[in-house]
Parts: sequence; structure tokens; C-alpha cells
Amino acid sequence: MPTSLLPLSFFLIFLPFQTALSSSTDAFVFGGCTQQKYTPDSPYQSNLNSLLTSLVNSATYSSYNNFTIMGSSPQDVVYGLYQCRGDLSMPDCATCVARAVTQTGSLCPSACGAAVQLQGCYVKYDNATFLGVEDKSVVMKKCGPSVEYDKESEIVGRRDAMMAGLMGGGGLFRVGGSGEVQGLAQCVGDLSLGECQDCLSVAIQRLKSECGAGAYGDMYLGKCYARFSSSGSGSGDNNHYYPKSHNDKSSNDGEKTFAIIIGLLAGIALLIIFLAFLRKVVDRNGK
Ligand SMILES: *[C@@H]1O[C@H](CO)[C@@H](O)[C@H](O)[C@H]1NC(C)=O
Ligand SMILES: *[C@@H]1O[C@H](CO)[C@@H](O)[C@H](O)[C@H]1NC(C)=O
Repeated sequence: MPTSLLPLSFFLIFLPFQTALSSSTDAFVFGGCTQQKYTPDSPYQSNLNSLLTSLVNSATYSSYNNFTIMGSSPQDVVYGLYQCRGDLSMPDCATCVARAVTQTGSLCPSACGAAVQLQGCYVKYDNATFLGVEDKSVVMKKCGPSVEYDKESEIVGRRDAMMAGLMGGGGLFRVGGSGEVQGLAQCVGDLSLGECQDCLSVAIQRLKSECGAGAYGDMYLGKCYARFSSSGSGSGDNNHYYPKSHNDKSSNDGEKTFAIIIGLLAGIALLIIFLAFLRKVVDRNGK
């Protein structure tokens, strides 16, 4: 059984970033297809369809699941799983998995196996089992441009601190941050916690060594990924999404409300001063 199934038999497809209109959790990261195709209207296709339906349904109540659809003959068995990013709500998870499933169909028509990674979720199916199999091969790597030289040592220091936090945090989904450097890590749910740790240590090590002083870095391995980004680095990469930005947004909203209230108070104060001035003028004229 090949342990690194993706690089061996999958064509990787990288599409340019989708328009800014697509919400970030649905944004496409990568996809791949097996070269083998199934026969249309075959038992395999009907098994695949029921697998895909199961994936989409399951994503309404669980952030990870795997399914094996048995056929009447061994060559019709299809295996599949999905993993939502740990911070997604169930409705968002379901929406993301439904998008990813749709994308496998359009990227990989009639392929026996396919995998699609969106920002918020991962979906994979194949006729060879890969469930519970660790896979640390690099599927996609992206490094940002180097940060400004005068900021480099600070950013690299913060990045290393943040990554140490990711390494130390248990669980399949981890977030970390240090100053303007943010990061996250996610394993696919079929890994044990020990295998997840093992996979993430490889991903994080590679990020450090291969993305050097980059403003951001993404390291997607077969069963886990780690990413980091430094805000204010001018990377212009709005495809980077971190759960922390939820907080940033609400604090921005808070600031806006605050500004509006200050504006109103200032307006009222001006009005009072104006009225007092008018009264003085009227008083003076009355004398
Ligand atoms: C998957 O399907 C292809 C094409 O039908 C076939 O050649 C291959 O042997 C199958 N693999 C497994 C593990 O059944
Ligand atoms: C697949 O799903 C079954 C049933 O939900 C579960 O018992 C099993 O542990 C899962 N296997 C893997 C490899 O995640």
C-alpha cells in the first residue's frame, strides 16, 4: 500500500486564487486527481455518489468523518473522508465540504480518486484505502516574499516562538500568535494524536527551513498542514485567513461604534455652545 498516495498517483492542480468575492473559507488551495478513471454509470460511480452524499451530510454535525462504501465486488469499494478546520462552525463546515465535493467533480471528472483542499476544509476519496495512513509528503508549499530586512530578526523570532507554541499545543487543530505573527495547524482526523504531532513537527520544521524569513508560509503535507503569516508585512495575500481576524474585526467594529458616539457627543457639545452663544447675543440685544 503506497503511503504517499497523493504525489505518486495524483496530478496536482493549482488554480490561481479565486476572486476576492469568494469568502475566505471556501477559497481554493489545491486539488489533485488520480489518473485512473471509472466507467460512467458503473457500480463504482454509484458508490462514489453515495460516499459524497455521506460526506456532505456528515459535515452538518461533525468536523471530521470517514466513510467506506462497500460494493458487491471488491473493485467497487470507495473510501473517503473530510476534515474541516477546527474553528469552523457546523454550518460553515457543511457549506465548505459541499463546495469541496462540487470542486472534486469539476476538477476530476470520472477520476477514481480526488482530493481538494479549500481554506476551511479538505475532502479526499479514492478506491485504494488511505484512511488512518500517515502521509508526510509535501503536497503544496507556498512561501511569501522576505520581510523587510530591518524587521527580519524580530519577525523570525516571533515566528519561531509562535511555531513552538503550535508544536506544544495538543490536539488536531492549533492556533498560535506572537505579536503580528499568526499561525495555525490542522491534522486530518484519521491520525492519532501521536501521528498528528509527528506530522506537524515535519511540517513546522520544513516551514522554518524552507520559508526562511518569508512574510508568510504554507506547508501542506498529505495528512496535516501548518501555516503562518505576519500581518503588516505587506504580503498583499488576502487569501490568508486566521481565526484571530474574527477578533480584529469585532474590535474594529467596536472602534467604529466608539467613533460614532464620540462624534455625536462632540456634535451635541457644539450645539450647546452654539445655543449658549445665541442666548448671549439675544440677551445683549435685549438690554
Ligand atoms: C482503482 O481503480 C483502478 C481503475 O479501475 C484500478 O486499476 C485499480 O487497481 C484500483 N485500485 C484498487 C486498490 O482497487
Ligand atoms: C472511520 O469511522 C469509523 C466510524 O465513524 C470510526 O470508528 C473509525 O475510527 C474511523 N477510522 C479512521 C481511520 O478515522
